[in-house]
Amino acid sequence: MSAELFLKACFNQPTEYTPVWFMRQAGRYLPEYRAIRSKLSLLEICRRPEVACEVTLQPVERLGVDAAILFADILLPFEPMGLGLSFRRGEGPVIERPIRKAEDVRRLRDLDPKSDLGYVMETIRLVRHRLGERTPLIGFAGAPFTLASYAVEGGSTRSFVQTKTLMYSDPETWHALMDKLAVAVGRYLACQIEAGAQALQLFDSWAGALSPDDYRRYALPYTAKALALARKANRNAPIIHFGTGTSSLLELMAEAGGEVIGIDWRIPLDQARSRLPGKAIQGNLDPCALLGSVEELESQVLAVLRRAGGQPGHIFNLGHGVLPQTDPDRLRRVVDLVHERSAARV
Ligand code: CP3
Repeated sequence: MSAELFLKACFNQPTEYTPVWFMRQAGRYLPEYRAIRSKLSLLEICRRPEVACEVTLQPVERLGVDAAILFADILLPFEPMGLGLSFRRGEGPVIERPIRKAEDVRRLRDLDPKSDLGYVMETIRLVRHRLGERTPLIGFAGAPFTLASYAVEGGSTRSFVQTKTLMYSDPETWHALMDKLAVAVGRYLACQIEAGAQALQLFDSWAGALSPDDYRRYALPYTAKALALARKANRNAPIIHFGTGTSSLLELMAEAGGEVIGIDWRIPLDQARSRLPGKAIQGNLDPCALLGSVEELESQVLAVLRRAGGQPGHIFNLGHGVLPQTDPDRLRRVVDLVHERSAARV
C-alpha cells in the first residue's frame, strides 16, 4: 500500500484496486480507543498529540485502510474563537456562548490556527512521521454551514430552527458569521497542509438541511471561500467535499469546490457520478449495513462496487460515520472484500 494509490483515485486516475477508508474510523467502536477514552476526555485526547497520534493509527493497523484521518473534531476551533466548547456524555457537544445576534458575531475572535490549534499541527507531524509514505493522512475541518449550525443552536439539532431563524430574520448577521467561519476554516485547512496533511476533507454534514436556493445563497459562497483559501496553500492535496442528504445539492457542492464529492447512501453512486463529470466520488455504504447479517453486508458492498462500475475515481467509504456498536471485524471484512473484488476487475 502506498499514499500514491489513494491520491491517484482522488484525481480520477486509474488504480490497481479501489482505496477504502471509513469516516469516524477512529472512535468508540474500537476497544483500544475505549481503553484510552476511559482515562481521558475527547478534548484531552485531541490536545495531547502523542495520544491523538496513537488513536489516529489504531484503525490503520487494525483495518488495513488506505488512508488515515487525523484524530480531532470539527468543533475544536470554537474554543479559541471564544464560543466555549465541551462534550457531555450522552448529549454530544455543548457550546457555552451560542451565536444569536450581531453582537455575538462581533465578539468572535479571529482564528490563528498555528498557535490556537498548534496541538493539531503537532499531531499531524507525529502521524506523518509514523506513517512515512505508506498511508496518506487526511486532514479535515467542518464547512461553514455545519459549523454555524452548532454555533447558533448551541449543540446538535434535528430541525435547525435557531439556525434558519437567524438566517431568515437577520441575513446580515448570518453573512457576517459565515464569512468569519469561512476565513477560519480556510486558514485552518491551509495550516494542516503546511503541517503535512496530504489530502483534506470538508465535512458539510448538515448541508442537506438546506434547499438548493438557500444553499446557493446562504452556504455556497462561504464553502467556496474556505476551499479557495485552503487551495492557495497547496496545489497537490486533493479536497474531498462531503455532505449527507445532498441529492438535490450535488452540482452546487461541486461548484463550491473539491476534487472528490462525498455522498451518503440515499443516492445511488452511479446517479451521483453521472451528475458530476470530472469529479471522483467517495461513498456510499449505509453504516447500518455493518450491523446486519454478513450476507447482507457483503451484498451491499458488492452493490456499491457494481455501481462504481470499475471506473477510475471511486474511493470506497460509508455514507456517514462508523456507528459505535459496529464490530471492527466487519469493517476489516469490508476492506478485504473491496480490495479483492476491485483488483480482480482489472
Ligand atoms: O476517525 C475519525 O473520523 C476522526 C475523528 C473525528 C471526530 N469527529 C472525533 C470524535 C472526526 C472526523 C469528527 C468530525 C465531526 N465531529 C463531525 C463531522 C462528521 C459527522 O459525523 O457528520 C461532526 C458533526 C462532529 C461534531 C461532534 N463530535 C458530535 C456531534 C459529537 C457527539 C456525537 C458523537 O458522535 O459522539 C462529537 C464527538 C466525537 N468526535 C467523538 C469522536 C470519536 C465521540 C466522542 C467520544 O469519544 O466520547
